[in-house]
Amino acid sequence: MADEPLVLGIETSCDETGVGIVRGETLLVDAVASSVEEHARFGGVVPEVASRAHLEAMIPTIERACREAGVGLRDLDAIAVTSGPGLAGALLVGVASAKALAVALDKPIYGVNHLASHVAVDIVEHGPLPEPTMAMLVSGGHSSLLLVPDITNDVRSLGATMDDAAGEAFDKVARVLGLPFPGGPHIDRAAREGNRVAIDFPRGLTTGRDLERYRFDFSFSGLKTAVSRWVETRQRAGETVPVADVAASFQEAVVDVLTRKALLACREHDVDHLLIGGGVAANSRLRALAEERCAKAGVTLRVPRPGLCTDNGAMVAALGAQMVAKGREPSELGLPTDSSMPVELVQA
Ligand code: KG4
Ligand code: ZN
Repeated sequence: MADEPLVLGIETSCDETGVGIVRGETLLVDAVASSVEEHARFGGVVPEVASRAHLEAMIPTIERACREAGVGLRDLDAIAVTSGPGLAGALLVGVASAKALAVALDKPIYGVNHLASHVAVDIVEHGPLPEPTMAMLVSGGHSSLLLVPDITNDVRSLGATMDDAAGEAFDKVARVLGLPFPGGPHIDRAAREGNRVAIDFPRGLTTGRDLERYRFDFSFSGLKTAVSRWVETRQRAGETVPVADVAASFQEAVVDVLTRKALLACREHDVDHLLIGGGVAANSRLRALAEERCAKAGVTLRVPRPGLCTDNGAMVAALGAQMVAKGREPSELGLPTDSSMPVELVQA
């Protein structure tokens, strides 16, 4: 509908330059330029390389988004941009670009939280969010369980990772197995040929006192170490490492813990909708096990399509459009970037 807010969203918190345009709850375009290949040989994202790539990609990506959506910049009702959390230099490129657009076009600007955007993106895929929704965010930088009464201004953290994020664990284990970066999709693929009960890897913080004390928190560093040790022992003995079985058993340990804790949170907070977002939500076994366990628990599962789970501009535009639709005040033009923006802070 033409009276719904038309919002352009810019995302530059890590290695993806994302520009999305959303009208109300409809996605018009999601243009992404990634510098992931420039980082691959370093085995991780190099902040300075990412910032430079954002600078180079920003204007062409904005132009491509507008062209593909058939939208002129002057038609926009607002600009939304990720103000944090993320890499400081990378965030600066996005926020400075958004400010330049806002000033030049005389449009309001909304600086929004990257994590809240990972939740909001599902609105353009599966419609309005039930209030409250339970959200589990699993990405390269974060693993969090969030209770979300209102995505525009009320996001509550129930728990988070104590050490490695889920995606980080996938990336590190992939390295141990000699698979390329980013490792998540490679482990996912290798695991399809493997046996997920071949090796019994530890499930951190899921039993006894640990579970009581860290009910909705996660820990993956013990699992990562267990996998490394298991692989090293085989290598030292001159045996070949069964990559597919290790990948499948490791992946099973991660997704078992994630889905168990997410459903425990749903039950204890009496919430019957679970949304899973972030790059690791693209994982095929996580999606399958979550579906199975949600169905058993009577919880409705929402997972955006894989392309919307990894970082993109559509998620920022989707949250911006919610802000405008709910009449939230725009951010100040001097809005800061905040590389460690707390998850409860939806807007800068
Ligand atoms: O959300 P995202 O694109 O960036 C961050 O905000 O971190 O997430 C990237 C992470 C990487 O660690 C990557 O290995 C992981 O998501 N990932 C996956 C899969 N696809 C991406 N992990 C497991 N299975 C996948 N299919
Ligand atoms: Zn992300």
